Amino acid sequence: MKIAMVGSGYVGLVSGACFADFGHEVVCIDKDQAKIDRLREGAMPIYEPGLEGLVEANVDAGRLSFTTDLAEGIRGAQAIFIAVGTPSRRGDGHADLSYVHAVAREVGEALEHEAVVVTKSTVPVGTGDEVERIIAESGCGHRVVVVSNPEFLREGAAIDDFKRPDRIVIGTEDAVGREVMGEVYRPLFLNQSPILYVSRRSAELIKYAANAFLATKITFINEMADLCEKVGADVQDVARGIGMDNRIGAKFLHAGPGYGGSCFPKDTLALLKIAEDFDSPVRIVEAVVKANESRKRAMGRKVLEALGGAEAARGRKVALLGLTFKPNTDDMRDSPAIAVARALTDAGVQVTAYDPEGMEQAGPLMPEVAMAADPYAAIEGADAVAIVTEWDAFRALDLKRVKDLARAAVLVDLRNIYRPEDVRAAGFTYFSIGRD
Ligand SMILES: NC(=O)c1ccc[n+]([C@@H]2O[C@H](COP(=O)([O-])OP(=O)(O)OC[C@H]3O[C@@H](n4cnc5c(N)ncnc54)[C@H](O)[C@@H]3O)[C@@H](O)[C@H]2O)c1
Repeated sequence: MKIAMVGSGYVGLVSGACFADFGHEVVCIDKDQAKIDRLREGAMPIYEPGLEGLVEANVDAGRLSFTTDLAEGIRGAQAIFIAVGTPSRRGDGHADLSYVHAVAREVGEALEHEAVVVTKSTVPVGTGDEVERIIAESGCGHRVVVVSNPEFLREGAAIDDFKRPDRIVIGTEDAVGREVMGEVYRPLFLNQSPILYVSRRSAELIKYAANAFLATKITFINEMADLCEKVGADVQDVARGIGMDNRIGAKFLHAGPGYGGSCFPKDTLALLKIAEDFDSPVRIVEAVVKANESRKRAMGRKVLEALGGAEAARGRKVALLGLTFKPNTDDMRDSPAIAVARALTDAGVQVTAYDPEGMEQAGPLMPEVAMAADPYAAIEGADAVAIVTEWDAFRALDLKRVKDLARAAVLVDLRNIYRPEDVRAAGFTYFSIGRD
């Protein structure tokens, strides 16, 4: 089957490469000429483990190609996926649908045959109706079925998530839509991945509900961590104790500096706006958004406290280890590290940082932060070291070397990746989240 993927970012590129790997003929389209040029040269525009090899193998096999020309890319495609960004609209937090609408218009104007148009971007309820209307109004004389197929992959584990999903959600009540989508995902169906057929609106809402629920779980354990600090309990034990209950589950119960990334912050905000528009408030999610926002900067204050308070911290040096919102990605969108660094530099602290993949993206977002070539270079002369993202590279730091290089042996572990007794035995003053 020929598939067109409009938008070749994290989701479009990974989905396109995986569909090609299933044996489909895939054209990835993007209006960013530089991105397409890089892809044609075999260079990846993003860091995602395993992606480069997957793209290369499928390009070599003649199943995957790249273009900026949408009309050419969608020619003959039975399924045309929309995988462009839906960021928060400036000022009000609604999902900005301008990219999705622009693609619908371009597809409607260029399409020369019947096709299924699939919205993979995360979009508010009712967007499928709007995409359908725009395509019809663009003068497209062919039958077009619009389907919702939200994506649940996680950056850093995207290929595995795509190929072994917990479920595939397909939102359509149209027989042709079901048939074409069944064909698109046949290899996964044969692998027994559950496929859930629902209405288009249900599919659209499932994506927001899933992200809001996960963001709630993270925020819940973060607040439990604060409570643990006050009452003298250990949040790791509390998380384990509740996570062993199958009704709760152990995942997303790791206390930390707050959720960030390209999805949870914007999707929780967008859900609030959808709920407001339909006069059906989601108060739990309102509280989650508020708690998470204030938490990120509070983590900066935690580092200041480790330095003896804001007054004592002025002019001191902090090494931040990890900047991306999670490990194994170079994505800096809404990373808690931005707020942590800002809280520190606002207090007159000199910040030096190191991240294995995120420094190029982080640089412009934190101009007052100096970037170091490796973790130990960042640590040199530091009055405190703060672990912000749990990259594997930081899990086994040479603590003796850290102590020799730093001016003071103070470790603030915002991801709880060390055991307090180990770090203290190495002579450090140790601060973590929700533990003694
Ligand atoms: N990143 C994730 O982990 C993730 C996971 C699940 C769902 N999503 C959702 O998937 C969607 C895409 O996210 P992303 O992270 O891949 O975004 P991204 O910003 O990485 O990529 C979007 C791409 O679309 C391109 N684009 C924009 N307008 C275009 C047009 N008219 N024609 C062709 N290309 C165009 C951009 O140049 C860009 O390369 C969003 O709705 C997001 O919420 C993302």
